Amino acid sequence: MKNKHLSMLIASLIITAATTASPIYSVQAAYDGTTINTSLNSTVKPDHVTLTWTKDPKTTQTITWRTSTNVTKGLVQYKNLTTGETKTFDAAKEDFSTSNTDINTGYMNLFSATLTNLTPNTKYSYKVGDGQNWSEENTFKTETAKEDDVKFIVFGDSQSGNADVPNYAPWNKTVQNAYSKNKDADFIINMGDLVEKGQDYRHWNNWFDAAKGVIDTVPEMPTQGNHETYNAVGWDSTKPKYFVNQFKVPMNGPEGFKGQVYSYDYGNVHFVMLDSQEEEEAPNNDEFFKQQAAWLDSDLSANKQPWTIVSFHKTPYYNKASRANVSLKNIISPIIEKHHVDVVLNGHDHGVSRTFPINNGKYYTDYSKGTVYYVTGRSGAKYYGDLSSKVWDAFFFDPQDMPSYEVADVKGNVLTINAYKQDGTLVDSFTIDKDHPQNSTKVVLPAAYNVDMNNKELAAIGADPRLVIYGTPIAFGSNQTEIANGKAYVNPLYIAMYLGGTYDSSSLKLTIDKQTYSFNSKDLSSKKNVSLDALTKAGFNCSYNTQFNMVMIDK
Ligand SMILES: [Fe+2]
Ligand SMILES: [Fe+2]
Repeated sequence: MKNKHLSMLIASLIITAATTASPIYSVQAAYDGTTINTSLNSTVKPDHVTLTWTKDPKTTQTITWRTSTNVTKGLVQYKNLTTGETKTFDAAKEDFSTSNTDINTGYMNLFSATLTNLTPNTKYSYKVGDGQNWSEENTFKTETAKEDDVKFIVFGDSQSGNADVPNYAPWNKTVQNAYSKNKDADFIINMGDLVEKGQDYRHWNNWFDAAKGVIDTVPEMPTQGNHETYNAVGWDSTKPKYFVNQFKVPMNGPEGFKGQVYSYDYGNVHFVMLDSQEEEEAPNNDEFFKQQAAWLDSDLSANKQPWTIVSFHKTPYYNKASRANVSLKNIISPIIEKHHVDVVLNGHDHGVSRTFPINNGKYYTDYSKGTVYYVTGRSGAKYYGDLSSKVWDAFFFDPQDMPSYEVADVKGNVLTINAYKQDGTLVDSFTIDKDHPQNSTKVVLPAAYNVDMNNKELAAIGADPRLVIYGTPIAFGSNQTEIANGKAYVNPLYIAMYLGGTYDSSSLKLTIDKQTYSFNSKDLSSKKNVSLDALTKAGFNCSYNTQFNMVMIDK
């Protein structure tokens, strides 16, 4: 009897220990609340405490938080944990209100302070408040004077996937898991679509609650996505107002994009964040990308760091079924590839993929010759059912069962990006070693389709190219494509079949999404295929990739 009680006591102690030992992710809230008051749930006690950098990470630290509007003063009290010296700094106050873009009208204060003259490579503790009501105490660490190891965590789209159900529990689990396993990270990056509705404050309340304990301890350097532009009602879009207000970043971007487009150095890496939302912020106006391209060209010309990583939300090298982002690819990618950006980080497609090194539409085995475009998956609830590996992908993973994240580490001349599932399972490890290229992740390019270049007769004839639509090789049958007199031709029937339309070969009319594309007889080959020139004129984005003998078509 005694023994039984003893063993029960031991068992209950073990259970208590297991449940009270620090959990791998925080579970103090459901992160899906929809209740919101006219203070947007802010109180006199600061919350949404967020670290970012607006200036030099070696000697400054920016801290932003919110309170209810009856708080009149914002202070940061911070302590150098090496010397013990404590200081207090006044923060600037901004009025924040939800306008007619939101469902609920409410008001709160945003406070922001940039601490300066900090000592490099030093840990500080800090708390924010008004002198009476304070936040919890947190810490941050300044960059080392000669930092040669840069580690950061990357989070693809963290949005809830449902405008009415702002569920950020999956994001909570991903961000807390990733940080608990990588507490030596210098900062984190979010790749855009942080929330489902940028101008619905209920989503931000849950997003910030879910990230508490991480973004108040390591800086958050975000890029903005299309969802940050959406108003609460319908799918109207605006400038990403709440995003820009809440995340204080270096204000060194081009006019009209400040707070959304910026660059900074950390260690031996130059980081650039761009805005890929032409469709939402300036529909059909390519000036949106041209302005950023001009700024990017001069920013990268002045870059002295050996590594460059550029981030933006939408991707030119997608893995979703039909999202080509043609203007982005045509205007931004040439600047990126001209300056040999090492890695581009993207979001939007919610899959994990990385391309071969690419330069000007050609794929290389050598990382010194091209840029790798890396799509970073999803850290939140939303996933798609129509992702696939495309012809440019060296790696592809579809995070269907759970969210994902990446840990990037640049140590001297070696860059590593590891992709993990939310539970920490490694799904990809990718390395570029500039000193020892043989240690870089090996690139195996696919063989040129259907042409044996060693067979001179076959090569001279030039077998039919493979047809690729939206990056997906099409296998509907033979005679899809043809090369005649050095020009490429396609049977539009296969475009109609892939994109869900019809082609009438007698009237030469291709209809997709109620839009009709008409061709005439001089556009045709002797086999009645339509030339790429005519398809381009009709509005398709076409190219003949001689490297792999492929005809590639996007809309
Ligand atoms: Fe997204
Ligand atoms: Fe998106």
